[in-house]
Formats: sequence, structure tokens, C-alpha cells
Amino acid sequence: MDDATTLRNATDLAAFWMPFTANRQFKGAPRMLVSASGMYYRADDGREVLDGTAGLWCVNAGHGRREIAEALQRQVLALDYAPSFQMGHPIAFDFAARLARIAPPGLDRIFYVNSGSEAVDTALKMAMAYHRARGEGQRTRLIGREKGYHGVGFGGISVGGLVNNRRAYVTLPSDHLRHTQDLAANAFARGLPKHGAERAEDLEQLVALHGADTIAAVIVEPVAGAGGVLPPPRGYLQRLREICDRHGILLIFDEVITGFGRLGTPFASQFFDVTPDLMTTAKGITNATVPMGAVFAGRHVHDAIMEASQAGIEFFHGYTYSGHPLACAAGMATMDIYEREGLLTRAAGLAPIWEEMVHRLADAPHVIDIRNVGLLAAVELQPRKGAPGARGYEALVKAFEAGLTVRAAGDIICLSPPLIVEEAQIGLMAEILREVICGLD
Ligand SMILES: Cc1ncc(COP(=O)(O)O)c(C=O)c1O
Repeated sequence: MDDATTLRNATDLAAFWMPFTANRQFKGAPRMLVSASGMYYRADDGREVLDGTAGLWCVNAGHGRREIAEALQRQVLALDYAPSFQMGHPIAFDFAARLARIAPPGLDRIFYVNSGSEAVDTALKMAMAYHRARGEGQRTRLIGREKGYHGVGFGGISVGGLVNNRRAYVTLPSDHLRHTQDLAANAFARGLPKHGAERAEDLEQLVALHGADTIAAVIVEPVAGAGGVLPPPRGYLQRLREICDRHGILLIFDEVITGFGRLGTPFASQFFDVTPDLMTTAKGITNATVPMGAVFAGRHVHDAIMEASQAGIEFFHGYTYSGHPLACAAGMATMDIYEREGLLTRAAGLAPIWEEMVHRLADAPHVIDIRNVGLLAAVELQPRKGAPGARGYEALVKAFEAGLTVRAAGDIICLSPPLIVEEAQIGLMAEILREVICGLD
């Protein structure tokens, strides 16, 4: 009996209450990943499975990077943990300085968190603290966007735009821009869709409705990810920036997915040439080896909060594990790999091949839209009558059986491979996907 079989037999599947998973369905027919290396997972039946999603959009440098493992081993023996409240340890400062060097202009004050959700809630708090510091403490309303995903904290679900993540819970005072998806105008657009920049004007309507003096911030993903990979219409983000500036509203880019090279630039902000006031990151910051996130704060936001406080703690916020030494060590080793292998810009060279590959699926059955930007793509399927999401879920299961991991956002198949992906592997993904989609009812 090999290790994998032992694992499955010994595992009590009941105890682990799985996140964002149909638990009963999964436990009836589990899909177990037991090891990973480079572009591949290995399943418990011994099969290699190509990673089409970089884990959960996070393993940007591919799996099993020895350099990160060794850095972690060294760090745990040197300094396993030290607090960042009223104490410091060098690697947390070194890593922040290093992140600041690749940050978009001016966003060089780094606040550590442990996840994307915490990054979002932290950034929202910073926005409120900033306005309060400037004598505008009444600016507390938060604006998100339909189909947006900003994690699962109460701040994040308040600005998020996916109904299932919200309906059972109370939310903070918030409102939403319309999403930017427009199948009638933009279906099968390659790269950024032509139509829809005017939807940024929704913000003017929300200003008219609520009053700019009540609004703290607008948060958007530069490319909506979990809502189904929606690249923004051309000019949309620029318009949003202008309207925010006009009304003194902070603009937050949630770059938890787009950060660290996904679009072929270090951050989406550089890809779109729009600089937000605050930027949230996580996932790729440690190549997903240790949970970590970071908020990149604009100097003006940081300085306003600093200057408002005469003495003592300036920003009443933080986590036990903010700047955890192991996360910082993993992050440093990750940045070494990104830099040495050019991974923060590698997607730019592959993007045309990627685009060609996904759009070749346009004639497959059930396909109603295909979207792409950088090394992100979505193949949207027509929902089955009376069973939305069923076709997407079946695609995920069949793809796994055929040797490829994909994400299913309802009936949208999302792809975001590790940034080390080779052309031949892109071709293989296309082949598997075609077979899978053609086999769906
Ligand atoms: C844009 C965005 N923000 C926030 C999050 C939440 O991150 P986490 O799951 O690490 O809390 C995610 C996760 O996918 C995300 O895609």
C-alpha cells in the first residue's frame, strides 16, 4: 500500500469542514492532491494533474520551490517567531523595503497581514482612519462593485458583489457600482473589452445619492477574478481614478490575484497605468507557501494618519502574525525567484499565445464567451436550464479526471496557471479543455 492510499483510508473526512466547498458532494467523491512539483500536482491515485489555476491563483512560481523551503528551514531555526507590536525583527523591515522597491509609484508603506481578506479589511480601515485624520470622520461609506470578491471579512463582504457571500450576514454601510460584464457588446473580446468605460460614471450617481462627504473609498479588483475573470473595459479604471480625485474619495485596488506578475507587470496598477491610493495583496507574495498579505499604502495616506497622532500608537490595528518571520523569509526567497526568473514580467511574453489558445475554444459547444488578459482567462458556458452552475462544476470534475485543475465560478471556467508555464503546457490545457467541454451535456 503506497502513502497516498494510506492517507485516504486513514482520513476521517467528516471533521474537516471545508471552505467554499459542497462538503457532502466532495466527501462522496473526494479529489485528493498529495504532492506537487513545478506545474503539476499528484493525485492520490498517482496521476499527475496539470495545475491550470496556480493553486487558488497563488502559486505563481510553481510548486515545490526548494529555495523557499530552505529559507524557511533556516528562518525557523534562527528566529521562529517574534512579535511586531512594540518590537521588531530585521527581516520584516528588509522585506517591506524590498516590496516597496517594486511597488507602484508612491505606494511604499507596507502593512503586513495574513490573507487577502485581512488585507481588504485593513485597507478599508486605513481609508476611514485617513479621512478621520483629516477632519472628515463622517466619510465611512464604502463602495464596491457587483461581482467583486474581496474575501470574507465583514468589510470584504460589504464591498463584495457576490450574493451568496453576503445574504446570510449583516454588512457595513456600503453601495456598489454595476459590474462591467456586457455579453451583448463584448462577447469574445480579446484582452480588454472596447465597451463599458462609461460604467465608471456609476460612481458619480452614488456621489449624488449619498454625498461625497460620506464616502471613504471605492474598492475594485483591476480585473475581477473570482466573479469570473472580467477584464475592465478600456479606459474604465482611468475614469474611476478621475472621479475619485474629483470627490476626495480614496481608490483601492484589490490586487490579491493580479499582484506579483499575473498580467505581465509586477502589479495591475502598472499594467493599466493607474495608481490607486491603497493596494491589497496576498497569495503570490510568498508563492502561497506561508499565509501572508500586505497592504501597500500611499505615502499621503500613511503620512496623514501618522501626522494626526501626536504621540503613541498611530493606527490601532494589527495581527499577532503581522510580519511573521517565516512569512517574510518565504517572501524574500519568493522575490529572489521572481527576479531571477523574470516572473513578474514573463506573462507579457506568453499572453498572446495564451490568448490564441483560449480563443480557439470559441467554437466548442455551450461556450458563450471567452475572456483573457495577461495569464488569466475565462471560458463561460451557457448555464443548463434550471441548474445554474451544474455545467461548470461538471467541467471542473471532468477536467480533474482528465488531468487538469480549473476553477469554476458558476458556469465560468477560470484559468490562471503558474507563471512558469511553458507553451507546450498551454497547448495541453487547451486540448484537455476542448475534450472536457465537448463531453458536457
Ligand atoms: C481579489 C481578492 N481579494 C481578496 C481575496 C481573499 O483572500 P483570502 O482568501 O486570502 O482571504 C481573494 C481571494 O481569492 C481575492 O481574489
